[in-house]
Amino acid sequence: MYKVVAFDAFGTIFDVYSISQLAEEIYPGNGQAISMMWRDRQIEYTRLVSMADPSQEGSSYYTSFWDLTIKALHYTCARLHLPMNLEIQDRFMGQYAQLNIFPDVIPVLKELQLQGVHTSILSNGSKEMLKTVVANNQLSTYFEKLISVDDVRHFKVMPQSYQLVLDQFSCKKDEVLFISCNAWDIVGAAWFGFPTYWVNRFQLPFETIGLPPTYQASSLSDLSSYL
Ligand code: LAC
Repeated sequence: MYKVVAFDAFGTIFDVYSISQLAEEIYPGNGQAISMMWRDRQIEYTRLVSMADPSQEGSSYYTSFWDLTIKALHYTCARLHLPMNLEIQDRFMGQYAQLNIFPDVIPVLKELQLQGVHTSILSNGSKEMLKTVVANNQLSTYFEKLISVDDVRHFKVMPQSYQLVLDQFSCKKDEVLFISCNAWDIVGAAWFGFPTYWVNRFQLPFETIGLPPTYQASSLSDLSSYL
């Protein structure tokens, strides 16, 4: 039914929990506050960059997700009055390369491979970040393409970012199933015109704007029954 399944990366394939664990280790009592604020600020910065210059050829304010993530970390620590230095920054950012995958990922990727469905990642993450974390988890053979928004110099949820999947696979919107754990990413993808699968890993409410996901489940395990 779907020719291509495109996955978001962080939080969907890769478990970012180890980041809050590390935050708790470095700043006891603040782990959760840091990881939540850091994530929100990281995404906030991506939106600032794209909204301030939505031009088709890319935002003139574009800087990679890696850079924005560092800037967001510095903001977060300043806001919470926590000390920050290069060593701490390196420890946090190094964690991005070491993220583990969720246990439901490999069985689903194997199933998709068996069914002959094309697979990709579509992520805000920079090319380098994606290559590293995919290789570290031995996932390279499962994804035909690692699509980074670096190629359009705009972040999700800009239509240009979702368009990358269509360009890479020469397919139509309704032939792509887009999967993310981020409800906002599902809203963006659905507005773009993709059928969507929301992996609600953390039992969160869906956004109160936008189109509801085509499918929703608490893990990826049910995916093959929808294909
Ligand atoms: C990504 C972030 C948004 O991988 O999770 O695109």
